[in-house]
Amino acid sequence: MPALEAQLMDLYDCRVLSDETDPAAFIAREGDSYEALVTAKNGADAALIESLRNIKAITHFGVGYDNVDVAAAARRGIAVSNTPDVLNDCVADLAIGLLIDTVRGLSASERFVRRGDWLKGQFPLTTRISGKRLGIAGLGRIGRTIARRAQGFDMDIRYYSRNPVAGVEFKHEKSLVELARWCDFLVIAVSGGAPTRHLVSADVIEALGPDGYLVNISRGSVVDELALLDALTQKRIAGAGLDVFTDEPKVPPAFMELDNVVLLPHMASGTRETRKGMADLVLHNLQSLFETGRLKTPVPVPAGN
Ligand code: DGY
Repeated sequence: MPALEAQLMDLYDCRVLSDETDPAAFIAREGDSYEALVTAKNGADAALIESLRNIKAITHFGVGYDNVDVAAAARRGIAVSNTPDVLNDCVADLAIGLLIDTVRGLSASERFVRRGDWLKGQFPLTTRISGKRLGIAGLGRIGRTIARRAQGFDMDIRYYSRNPVAGVEFKHEKSLVELARWCDFLVIAVSGGAPTRHLVSADVIEALGPDGYLVNISRGSVVDELALLDALTQKRIAGAGLDVFTDEPKVPPAFMELDNVVLLPHMASGTRETRKGMADLVLHNLQSLFETGRLKTPVPVPAGN
């Protein structure tokens, strides 16, 4: 984010690694003088973390930090922060918008008008949203914000998470397949990373069935994309709204051929207000690190580290 980069340059002796012609040579030459690493969509793998021998913290721009090797950082006593909470509203707003678009066919009907097809006949009937059954995978901060919005649509809500969440009024389903079998719409709001890779498996997609819709605003890695493509193509699932993909920004061309999928460019948190909130939190974390030695919003240290 250019504004964040400018503020970082103003406040700190700061370099943008990806602007270096030879980042590895730069690190070998000057890496030891850096005390903190700021990451965004490129993240930080174990090799990068190992090579920056004096950093005390990694402050990540984003709530999801699946692209930062937190275990490698923890092994070296390096704390990692993310940007929780400030994006809950915008991500939840987009999840509901994407759900409505996918189920009511907003994008598809807009293409219909632009193509001049309205002159030839009516757009096909779509499916009602209000009062339907919504399944949410992952009832963290974002999942709960989505649920609150869905209550405004009188939806019946259940959720799946590894463990039941204390103090929520919604029914917990022990398996994602069970949740998918029960619901009309399944919204994925779990964290990315190895533990949730392909959580939305071929079995989950089959359980959702030919009248079911999937919305993913978490990470592309959570969905078995090939299984989803197959199900969408053969209409074994009614439709999908996807803000995230396995290999962003590359979207499998086969998706482009389908009218029962809405494709967005990972934009759920992409409002000026929310991105400013995320940038401010990166800056507050750095300030706290340099003033107190502690981060403001550290992520949990993985078990065993
Ligand atoms: C996040 O913060 O993790 C969003 O997905 C934006 O990248």
